[in-house]
Amino acid sequence: MLGGNEFILVIASGFTSAWLISNGWTICGAIMFLACISKLRELRGQKKVDVGEDFHVIIIGSGVSGICMGRKLNEIGVKYTILEKSTDLGGTWHDNFYPGVACDVPSHLYSFSDFMNPTWSRAFSKGKEIHQYLKRAASSFGVYPNVVFNKRVESCTWNQKTCKWTVQTTDGTQYIANFIVTGSGGLHVPRLPNFKGQETFKGPAFHTALWDATFQPKGKRIAVIGTGASAVQAVPGVVELGAAELKVFQRTPAWVPPRLDYEYPEYVKTMFKLFPITNSIHRWFFFWRSELRFRLVFTEDAWITKKLSGWIHGQVKSHYRHVIKNKELREKLIPNFSMGCKRITPSDTFLQAFNEDHVHLITDKIEEITETGIKTSDGVEHEVDAIIFATGFDLQKSARPFTQIGVDGKDMSETWGDTPGAYLGIVHQQNPNYFMLLGPGTGLGHNSIIYMIECQANYTIDAIKKFVKSGARSMAVKDSVTTDYLDWCQENMKGKVFANNNACVGWYRNDRGINWTLWPLDLVTYWWMTLKCNLEDYSLRY
Ligand SMILES: Cc1cc2nc3c(=O)[nH]c(=O)nc-3n(C[C@H](O)[C@H](O)[C@H](O)COP(=O)(O)OP(=O)(O)OC[C@H]3O[C@@H](n4cnc5c(N)ncnc54)[C@H](O)[C@@H]3O)c2cc1C
Ligand SMILES: NC(=O)c1ccc[n+]([C@@H]2O[C@H](COP(=O)([O-])OP(=O)(O)OC[C@H]3O[C@@H](n4cnc5c(N)ncnc54)[C@H](OP(=O)(O)O)[C@@H]3O)[C@@H](O)[C@H]2O)c1
Repeated sequence: MLGGNEFILVIASGFTSAWLISNGWTICGAIMFLACISKLRELRGQKKVDVGEDFHVIIIGSGVSGICMGRKLNEIGVKYTILEKSTDLGGTWHDNFYPGVACDVPSHLYSFSDFMNPTWSRAFSKGKEIHQYLKRAASSFGVYPNVVFNKRVESCTWNQKTCKWTVQTTDGTQYIANFIVTGSGGLHVPRLPNFKGQETFKGPAFHTALWDATFQPKGKRIAVIGTGASAVQAVPGVVELGAAELKVFQRTPAWVPPRLDYEYPEYVKTMFKLFPITNSIHRWFFFWRSELRFRLVFTEDAWITKKLSGWIHGQVKSHYRHVIKNKELREKLIPNFSMGCKRITPSDTFLQAFNEDHVHLITDKIEEITETGIKTSDGVEHEVDAIIFATGFDLQKSARPFTQIGVDGKDMSETWGDTPGAYLGIVHQQNPNYFMLLGPGTGLGHNSIIYMIECQANYTIDAIKKFVKSGARSMAVKDSVTTDYLDWCQENMKGKVFANNNACVGWYRNDRGINWTLWPLDLVTYWWMTLKCNLEDYSLRY
């Protein structure tokens, strides 16, 4: 049903957009008007669907995706169970609690679009605050009672006769589902390197996503391996906790522009609470700024964007010059590839940490890990008390966290090979009645992934509604639809900085240099393409 507050907000926004247009703010007004229409459509769509008693959906994972999907199924009155391998919900924000963990997209944008949080404490909130927000959202959406914790899904198998899925968990429980929606995440399988002698190290050694809660950095000599987004946050985090010495082992530098974090004053939070429209406008500002940034920094096929991008790179380099006075050190920290080729990792404290006498950057290749430290190619043995692996995630494994047997009887791992792909990143022809949230090709380097997940959940709801109405028993996207779509994606990768196979390595691309992880365009295009599920794209079985 239409929430009273939401309805008033939409009507108020409608009047504001009319006022903006009539006062010459045509573009702002038009954007606001389109958003009102979209919201109204969304609210209108929240009618219960009569699916019958037996209809059941299994959602896998209780991170942002699982919570979002659970909420939407509640709204249309469809029964579901969320299977979660952990002891708590939150996914990324439950697993990652290394010092300094925070979002790098403004919190007001990294939130559910219709469950905003007027009281975010700062522009880029810490992991704990995000985790609490997600738990609050799950409570408010009525998702909690449907989550079963400590249930790791081992396999999903399609039964062509019954047109249902059998979901098997590692403890031997079986669930039967008409539909499966996966929200098992893209960055959740930690990738540990395999250095010679790694197992001989005597001190604590762990991955950032498997942080040892009992570990006290104070007074210790610590090594951090890696300089990606996790390291950029963990390095200043560990310094703040009083490490005696910190050695950061860098293989490739990352672009670290200033994050410009700030606290929200109480009066601003009160204003957001009393006048939610101000909170929405604040969020929209971040949204459109990110979309603009995509055009300026990530798109390099037009002379104007090349020029602007060159200027932005110059500004960021001058920031490095301003922060790091030692030229030799600075040059080691500046990447030789364009921003956006890998994830940009903004920070106000990472580069600054290297100005401390007890923080050192090591760029010599790691040869071996010994009982007491790390040996590098220059023959030096760096003695440390603890090693933190900030070495990222295995994207290939993250994309297939369980065995998945579809129509052809083959595991999806085999079908996908090294290039997972799906129509809109959501559906695959071998898997009828199976929808993926944050599936292949839907990651972002420039905006909030929560918005992508919301688009995917809305599409899934539209698909379920149309499927039920059609009276079909199964729906599978057509082969040709997926193939054409994936070709279109690769075509649209051209001219984007993250498509460049030679410039840098990183998790965006597979070993052959194909970027299968990112959505190649802006979010508005994705929103438009996922607005409706077109049943003509599907083969239906009755
Ligand atoms: C440290 C870190 C910081 C990040 N910061 C940002 C950011 O600032 N902005 C941004 O846009 N994105 C960020 N991301 C990406 C982040 O992963 C997404 O924003 C988002 O949290 C993904 O939500 P999800 O629910 O799809 O996946 P996840 O949060 O990964 O949740 C997946 C859930 O599925 C469960 N699961 C997995 N496999 C199984 C199984 N076999 N059986 C049962 N349950 C299973 C997991 O336990 C987990 O709870 C960050 C990622 C990391 C690692
Ligand atoms: N909100 C946030 O700010 C935030 C925080 C954390 C994570 N994230 C998300 O999670 C993603 C992953 O981030 P991440 O930092 O965990 O991983 P990552 O970006 O993949 O970085 C891993 C780092 O470890 C290095 N590395 C890996 N194996 C190594 C080896 N064998 N020897 C030496 N160095 C090695 C990599 O070097 P190379 O570059 O040379 O490979 C890289 O510097 C991010 O891109 C982002 O999407 C976001």
